[in-house]
Amino acid sequence: MIGRLNHVAIAVPDLAAATALYKDVLGATVGAPQDQPEHGVTVVFVTLDNTKIELLHPLGKDSPIAGFLARNPAGGVHHICYEVADITAASARLKRARARVLGDGKPRIGAHGKPVLFLHPKDFTGTLIELEEA
Ligand code: CO
Repeated sequence: MIGRLNHVAIAVPDLAAATALYKDVLGATVGAPQDQPEHGVTVVFVTLDNTKIELLHPLGKDSPIAGFLARNPAGGVHHICYEVADITAASARLKRARARVLGDGKPRIGAHGKPVLFLHPKDFTGTLIELEEA
């Protein structure tokens, strides 16, 4: 069901420092910070040949990554995103497997303007998984 690795999202306490690290120390291609107020984050995209890294920093009061950074003050891997061809079929398959989908279980529009689902980390070896229709 899952296809390519779309991105790995890393929550960072200092976006400028993390961007400089990827750009100057690791020599990666990094974009400009993008505020995504509807998702409560500011994102810097790091483009690699085979996937992307997203550096996430909280934006606003109710950021979904604020709690994660409080527990992981140095930052850390927040989620990984796999592509699926059909998010509705993926949702049905997960329901049959009794895997927990976060929220109301229905796909919503994610940070790239495409339908996404998030899966409970306790059902997936401690890793928050995002599925994106691509
Ligand atoms: Co993501």
